[in-house]
Amino acid sequence: MEKYLLPEIPDYHLIDVYENNGGYQAFKKSITLNPDAIINEIKKSNLRGRGGACFPTGLKWSFMPKDNSKPKYLAVNGDESEPGTFKDRNLFEFNPHLIIEGILIACYSMEIKTAYVYIRGEYGKWIRIFQKALDDAYSKNYIGQNILGSNFSTNVFIHKGAGAYICGEESALMNSIEGDRGYPRVKPPFPAQKGLWNCPTTINNIETLANIPLIINKGAEWYSSIGSPKHPGPILVGISGHVNKPGVYEVPTGTLLTELIYNFAEGIPGNKKIKAIIPGGSSTMILRGENIEGVKMDAESLKAAGSSVGTAGLIVMDEETDLIRVITRITKFYHHESCGQCTPCREGTGWMEKILNRFEKNEAKKEDLELLLDVANNIEGNTICALGDAAAWPVQSMIKRFPEEFERRIKKVEPV
Ligand SMILES: Cc1cc2nc3c(=O)[nH]c(=O)nc-3n(C[C@H](O)[C@H](O)[C@H](O)COP(=O)(O)O)c2cc1C
Repeated sequence: MEKYLLPEIPDYHLIDVYENNGGYQAFKKSITLNPDAIINEIKKSNLRGRGGACFPTGLKWSFMPKDNSKPKYLAVNGDESEPGTFKDRNLFEFNPHLIIEGILIACYSMEIKTAYVYIRGEYGKWIRIFQKALDDAYSKNYIGQNILGSNFSTNVFIHKGAGAYICGEESALMNSIEGDRGYPRVKPPFPAQKGLWNCPTTINNIETLANIPLIINKGAEWYSSIGSPKHPGPILVGISGHVNKPGVYEVPTGTLLTELIYNFAEGIPGNKKIKAIIPGGSSTMILRGENIEGVKMDAESLKAAGSSVGTAGLIVMDEETDLIRVITRITKFYHHESCGQCTPCREGTGWMEKILNRFEKNEAKKEDLELLLDVANNIEGNTICALGDAAAWPVQSMIKRFPEEFERRIKKVEPV
């Protein structure tokens, strides 16, 4: 497939190279169109968000109120802190102007005058590249006042994160931009009603916005013909773990997991068997290696297989992997990153970590398995934001799909 998000063109991050290859044409076309026509085109394209929840982008944009006199905002999510997910940074590095073009089209169609791009603080290099791209776009009047002689004006600012996973959650992200602690907000009200500074706000992932110029350039029909019809388009898959060639690969949605692992990532070192995979970043449910045949990287196929696309961060684990070690490490991450606002998440993630530590040391009691599942079940669905679910799902799925890994680690009690 042709590469649309990460084209192999040298120096594509430079504005002149981007323009010489058709860059900013979609934006120039957009400002001659009716904003509602753009939103309808995005709806028709079936683009679904690439930030984890696969929410339909056109529908989200249509929630922005038209009759509201308050300022409107776009919050662009480049926090990318989920273990196993590392695709947005490639976009920042190799195609920053595509992101900017997507942001500008979003601002124009939702009548937004200010966009904040929230970038993971550790991404120093990518922040510098993106700031340079913004400066160049300002200097050519793609951003700023009366853009390209039109009535449309907008500003785009970078906001650096400070290393908290929770700030990738959309409402925590907004609190963080406002200068407050990154606590998720109770919903409703949803961001389209009360977002940044209580004003209407849309939040989109970096990769979601990078898809927008493609749709405007070539049309919704063309876009929805790429990959899986219900979840179409090019998608960036980050492959890590036990593969010969880890990296970020641009493929059509619906690409088989086996093709991703064996063709793109060139298989498993030493030709070992796959014991398990996590398809979409650490919060998505683990699958057994023998059950991935025929499973595709799209929302429907992964749901049917008992997991989800998440952020398409595919983690591959070979037959020698200690899965108890894996789940203990993942749980330690969620415990550390819990903001502490909701009791089930604050306490539950810590309890899960303690119980898992006992399994890791082969000191677990027989009843620990039931207790672990009980704690996970009591976190899921009982918190303000989905970090609780993100911590519970890996544990629940590991118990369900790999019970033998836990049973093997239960301490044998000698009969007296
Ligand atoms: C704990 C947590 C962390 C998240 N981190 C990110 C992130 O780093 N980047 C991202 O785009 N979305 C993240 N999300 C999802 C966002 O809340 C939101 O759904 C997304 O930015 C919406 O963009 P989209 O509709 O374009 O996918 C996270 C969600 C949760 C619950």
